[in-house]
Amino acid sequence: MAVIENSKVTVVGAGSVGSSTAYAALIRGSARHVALYDIATQKVEAEVLDLAHGTQFTGSSDIVGGSDLSVVEGSHVVVITAGAKQDPGQTRIELAGVNARIIKTMMPQLLEAAPDAIYVIVTNPCDVLTVLAQEDTGLPPERIFASGTVLDTSRLRWKLAQRAGVSTSSVHAYIVGEHGDTEFPLWSKATIGTVPILEWVTPQGDRMTVDELDQIAIDVRDAAYKVIQGKGATNYAIGLSSARIVEAILNDEHAVMPVSPVLHGFHGVDGVALSVPSIVSAAGAVPVAETQFDARELELFHASADALRQVAGSLRS
Ligand SMILES: NC(=O)c1ccc[n+]([C@@H]2O[C@H](COP(=O)([O-])OP(=O)(O)OC[C@H]3O[C@@H](n4cnc5c(N)ncnc54)[C@H](O)[C@@H]3O)[C@@H](O)[C@H]2O)c1
Repeated sequence: MAVIENSKVTVVGAGSVGSSTAYAALIRGSARHVALYDIATQKVEAEVLDLAHGTQFTGSSDIVGGSDLSVVEGSHVVVITAGAKQDPGQTRIELAGVNARIIKTMMPQLLEAAPDAIYVIVTNPCDVLTVLAQEDTGLPPERIFASGTVLDTSRLRWKLAQRAGVSTSSVHAYIVGEHGDTEFPLWSKATIGTVPILEWVTPQGDRMTVDELDQIAIDVRDAAYKVIQGKGATNYAIGLSSARIVEAILNDEHAVMPVSPVLHGFHGVDGVALSVPSIVSAAGAVPVAETQFDARELELFHASADALRQVAGSLRS
């Protein structure tokens, strides 16, 4: 596949996350056509109007939407944000039952409207929902994947950039595993420019320590809890992350991003969706098999896989 002309992305769910994704996609010009779909008619129509009212100030992207599934027709990418969100203090896994039922009902309808689209699942717990949806639909794993730790990786790079005194784009580091409590950074391969992270000298003249990096990893892992505590949802950063994934697909970028497709034979993990650096293009997401882990990271990776396998198993039965 090549770069898609007259590209269309549909965002399913017009809540905080879906509306912010549509807003980011419009401002960034992620797709020629942006559509928003939700079962809540008044809400989705109001969001579409509000977004449309700003299009004088965006690029050439347009916005349509509503509560009729025909909105989804012709989509090249469908981003799913519909479903229950975390209450303050609630984990993503605690949303699994209710959101699994929503996705199970919705996927056949979406596939009928957009049979050839690439599906990006943002609704939480996004990794577990991805494996269930992939199994139910029989879609090839590259065509249905979770936004995974693209957001967490951006949070990590922001914190490291601040400490290192460099721009975020000069930080090369990834969060992998579950988008949730068992995620972790691949510190063994993290660099600032080309300098290994522990060797970088900060503007204060010191170096980061292992303890400090451990604390940064915890802060990143728990970042959503803090935002949800303060404002009830996370929306801007996930909106931007989702729009960025959409661009990598529609522009056939072959960009390496830590999205979460169902893995097969990846460092001993099978049949679980987990975030690993993957090549994102018009064909979807393909894990980079050569990604290296040190012994401790591999242990954490398998622990993350075991945790999610258990949750998915409990929902299948
Ligand atoms: N993966 C990530 O990085 C990430 C980040 C933030 C939030 N999230 C998740 O995104 C989801 C949405 O969060 P939010 O804050 O936007 O929630 P929200 O409550 O603001 O919006 C959810 C929307 O989904 C709609 N909806 C429910 N069932 C539907 C259906 N069957 N079809 C169409 N629409 C339906 C609702 O009407 C509502 O407008 C949550 O599961 C949240 O945990 C994921």
